[in-house]
This record gives sequence, C-alpha cells and structure tokens, in this order.
Amino acid sequence: MGHHMTRDTMRALELAAYDGRLRAVEKPVPRPGPGQVLVRIAAAPVNPSDLKFIVGAYGLRKPLPVVPGIEGSGTVVAAGPGLMARLQVGKRVACLAPESGDGTWAEYMVADARRCIPLRKELTLEQGAMMVVNPWTAWALVDVARRRGHRAAVHTAAAGALGRMLVRLGLRLGFPIIHIVRRAEQAEALRGLGARAVLVSSDGDFDARLAEACRTLGATVAFDAVAGEMTGRVLAAMPPGSTAIVYGSLSEGPVTANASQFIYEDKRIEGFWLSRWAAGRGLVGRARLAMGLQKHLATDFATEVRARVPLEQAAEAIEDYRRHMTGGKVLIIPGELEGS
Ligand SMILES: NC(=O)c1ccc[n+]([C@@H]2O[C@H](COP(=O)([O-])OP(=O)(O)OC[C@H]3O[C@@H](n4cnc5c(N)ncnc54)[C@H](OP(=O)(O)O)[C@@H]3O)[C@@H](O)[C@H]2O)c1
Repeated sequence: MGHHMTRDTMRALELAAYDGRLRAVEKPVPRPGPGQVLVRIAAAPVNPSDLKFIVGAYGLRKPLPVVPGIEGSGTVVAAGPGLMARLQVGKRVACLAPESGDGTWAEYMVADARRCIPLRKELTLEQGAMMVVNPWTAWALVDVARRRGHRAAVHTAAAGALGRMLVRLGLRLGFPIIHIVRRAEQAEALRGLGARAVLVSSDGDFDARLAEACRTLGATVAFDAVAGEMTGRVLAAMPPGSTAIVYGSLSEGPVTANASQFIYEDKRIEGFWLSRWAAGRGLVGRARLAMGLQKHLATDFATEVRARVPLEQAAEAIEDYRRHMTGGKVLIIPGELEGS
C-alpha cells in the first residue's frame, strides 16, 4: 500500500436497484488489487450516460448494489501490486470506473491503473474530472468523419457540453459543422462561440433550411445524440450516400426513418459508443490521445459547471439538471473542496 493513511469507511452514493434512486451510504473503503490504485475522488460529473446507467439503460450493467459514476478525478493514495499502479501513488489523475465494481460517486474508488490518466500540472482536478467522456467522443466523431472523407457534418443536441466542444473543435480544425438545437436562445449561445451554421429544430422551415445547408457545405455525415424522429429528419436532409451516426438517445424514442432512403438513396444509420471505439485503439493509442487532448482541455474541450454539490445533495441537483440540461454539468464533490 502507498504512503497515505486512509480511513476504514467512506461516504458514497449507492444504487440498490436500476430505478434511478440514489441514497447516500457509509461503506468500507475498497482495497486496490493487482494493477489497481485507490483514488481519493475530488470531483465527478453527472453525464447523460450516468442518467442511463442508473436506470439500467446504459451499455453496461453491474451487479447491485453499486456506486454509479463513470468518470472523475482525484489523487492516488494507495496502490496494489504492480509497477504501473505504484508509479501513480501521489499523482493527480483523471479516472474511469472499472468495468465491474463501484464508480466515482464516492469519497474513494478503486481504479485500474491503466484507466487512470496523470494530469498535466497546469490542469485543475475539476477540469480533469470531465476529461474523457465528452472530449474523447467529440474528438473521435470528427476523426471518424474526416478519415472517411466527409467534408462537413451535422450535429444534433448541439447546445450541450459536447456540442460546445464540437463548435470549438470544428472551428479550429476548419471542419464545418451544422449545429442543430431545439430553442432559439441555444442558437444564440452557439453563435456567441463563433458557430456559423446553427438551426433551430422547432422552426417551421427547419427541414428545408437543413437540406439547403447540407447541400451548400457538403455535409454527408450526422452525429446524432437525439434519436427518435430526429435521425430520419436529418438523414432525409443530407445528400444520397450519407450516414447518420447515432451516439445518444436524448429523446428516448425509437429511431424512425423512411425506408426509401436506404433503398434508393444508399443512406445508412450506424451507432457509436466511446467504450468500443477506445478499446479498438489499444493502450498506446489511448495514452497518446490522453496526452494530446489534455493540451486543449482548458480551451476546445472545456466544460461549464452549473453546480458543485456534496454527495448528499446530488439527487436533487440531478433532477434539476434533467429538467434543463443546457447550462453546464452538475459536479459531485465527495470530500472537502480542494484548491485543486
Ligand atoms: N456514445 C457515446 O459514447 C457518448 C459519449 C459521450 C456522450 N454521449 C452522448 O452525447 C450527448 C450529449 O452529452 P452532453 O454531456 O453534451 O449532454 P448535456 O451537456 O447534458 O447536454 C444535453 C443537450 O441536449 C439537449 N436535449 C436534451 N434532450 C433533448 C431532446 N429530446 N431533443 C433535443 N435536444 C435535447 C439539451 O437541451 P435542453 O436544455 O433543451 O434540455 C442539452 O443542450 C448525450 O446524448 C450523451 O449520451 C455519447
């Protein structure tokens, strides 16, 4: 074990059933096994994927009871056997929940050392807490699109955290993106970030304007986080041969699209999940990406925070976030607020 004295018990948020109901509990501080580290969690965000996880709708279900929380940050205070784990003791890291076992919404978490990313010294623990899920996805979607030769893309639910990353990334890379939001004030916010093509899906002439923008910019791929009827509408607006990549399902509705688009227009719909994409890159590829993205974490991949709450107030804050998701993340601060 490392140099840091840890307590025997800790506070955590626990899920007893996949019904979305969280309760604050006291439970034993876990012990790191081979290749694992113990992280004292500094901050952990609530992402849409966590909202799915707590109702059993995420791509991964764990045995119950379980502590949710997919990503976070903290300080490594102890290590199990293994060089990679030992080298991280004392380091500030961004960390991901292990594939089996408890997550980041607790004072401590055991993480696989391979799923911890040491933070560059200029970054705060708060920035590090939101370093993987959205930044990697934003980067991956644009990378996939450019590798396949698409010249421009459409993005739905564009006013959220990931949407803002895509605005800034698209501008920096010179990759045009048509940003779709559902309310006029969201469009204004994106224009304030420099976005040029922004459309509001509730406008009467939305479908025609989207088709026009796709033609003008040559958008032949869509990154769709809404699903439901939005996927088919976006697909219909793009030229023949286009692809919709569904990577979120915020509408919670089944994807609908007119079949003639597949038969006569050679259009297609596929999915994207960061876990699968990252697994396909290998350890070295992930390490290189982790280091590269950190350089842009304070700019392109910055995330707004609406509230910093202790574990006991998380359930209430999550309800508030769910009602109106634009406006920043809820960040759970399980322990004492640190300077970072
Ligand atoms: N596949 C993957 O691996 C992966 C990885 C990361 C993220 N994601 C997905 O990326 C999406 C965005 O994540 P985020 O962290 O950026 O979310 P976020 O910051 O919470 O923002 C969500 C945005 O979506 C809007 N929205 C919510 N429900 C909507 C609906 N039914 N129709 C249209 N817009 C809606 C919200 O607007 P309002 O304010 O109007 O509610 C808000 O602007 C999520 O679907 C998430 O699951 C997927």
